Amino acid sequence: MVQAGRPRANTTEEIARRHLLQPWPVAGSIGAEARGLIGEGDGIYVVDGEGRRLIDGPAGMWCTNVGHRNQELAGVMYEQAMALSYNTPWYTMNEPSAALAARIAAHAPGDLDHVFFTTGGSSAVETALRFMQFYNNVRGRPDKKMVVSRGGAYHGSTYLSASLNGRPRDRDWMDGADGLVVKLSCPDPFRRPAGMSVEAFRDLLVQEFRDTVERIGPDRIGAFVGEPVMASGGVIVPPEGYLPAIRDICRENDILFIADEVVTAFGRLGHVFASKDVFGIEPDMITFAKGVTSGYFPLGGVVISGALVEEMRRSNHADAMFAHGLTYSSHPVGCAVALKNLDLLENGILEHAGAIAPYFQQRLKTLEELPLVGEVRGLGLMACVECVADRESRNPLALDNEVGKRIDAHCHELGLLVRPLIHMCVMSPPLIITRDQIDDMVAILHEGISRTMDDLRAEGLWQG
Ligand SMILES: Cc1ncc(COP(=O)(O)O)c(C=O)c1O
Repeated sequence: MVQAGRPRANTTEEIARRHLLQPWPVAGSIGAEARGLIGEGDGIYVVDGEGRRLIDGPAGMWCTNVGHRNQELAGVMYEQAMALSYNTPWYTMNEPSAALAARIAAHAPGDLDHVFFTTGGSSAVETALRFMQFYNNVRGRPDKKMVVSRGGAYHGSTYLSASLNGRPRDRDWMDGADGLVVKLSCPDPFRRPAGMSVEAFRDLLVQEFRDTVERIGPDRIGAFVGEPVMASGGVIVPPEGYLPAIRDICRENDILFIADEVVTAFGRLGHVFASKDVFGIEPDMITFAKGVTSGYFPLGGVVISGALVEEMRRSNHADAMFAHGLTYSSHPVGCAVALKNLDLLENGILEHAGAIAPYFQQRLKTLEELPLVGEVRGLGLMACVECVADRESRNPLALDNEVGKRIDAHCHELGLLVRPLIHMCVMSPPLIITRDQIDDMVAILHEGISRTMDDLRAEGLWQG
């Protein structure tokens, strides 16, 4: 209803400014913001509100893995909605969810063969953590509940998952379940202590975990949760051997290792799951979301080790209830889309992603010739361009905090969407990107960063 004396909102921007709350707003503009409008998408491109065609650099939010406007995914959504649009998972089940669980189990490492479906990544992490709590309660270890996370991590926006987040600024004004979480250092080789080798840095991080387990006590720690490659923290690829060493410590101390593969699963690193195929580890649980439906439907889940499930079945508490479920757990439309998405990945897209990744990384690496760029790093089809004020000290602090946004604004003019993260730009395009399109993307980024350097110099914010 239009309020008296208030002119009618006509454009999408006006309506949004009046009624739409979007993620991560700041108090000063909350509820009064209109973000860039995206009208439609096709392949690796989207079209903005002014009709400008842009390369979708972040693939939405690490999710549009098979690209936009995929006829087969759209078709299967329609067909499943017409066949069965919903059933309650409380006391019924549907065929697509059982079939998808089996397909996912076949791709998951080790004995991870049971899948609990959720509505996205946060609910997947929340489910894994609540399962860990339930598991330890049933085993008669109610004190074994603390969760180890890391600086730079991002695990979601529900209370428990958000309590694990370790990125700067995410927790400044937000509460969390602090008594339940302990944080380790971010395994970022670029930010290792000056003069230290990457191997020595890895050993330091591993020792920090050992010391933490000793200090808190293994009987109080239920799980370690980690993204194999920290995504929203700036595509942080840990030192070689780090993840297997953490995995070993977990095993030695009866601590569950939860790999948060919300970003890295479903093709981003060339495999359905990266834990084993890329990093050689077998977690106790893996969380996934995003790429499981290429973003066409909100779906996520946790793959859980059969041994854990079996242990629950054989416990002395047959009546103990895992009182956890979501109205949209095992949604038939989401699961049908995910099955078709897996077909597409298995029939060429995974192979393509693996084959083109070295070219993607190598071309992006050329941006290091620009003096504002401190490092370009990444793995598979995920990468980050980190800007620094000074290459020697690697100091980003003196830089304008909005440097990522400035690069994004220039790139937008030139035909590329970038995901700006403070002084970093993250690139994770749809997996179907071609060599020519990678060349276009890198050329635009080069020009966008060059223009940003000119602006920063002109405004006296940077002397590089
Ligand atoms: C590693 C990781 N875990 C969990 C999440 C939360 O997922 P969602 O936003 O679908 O709840 C994200 C989101 O970006 C993520 O990157």
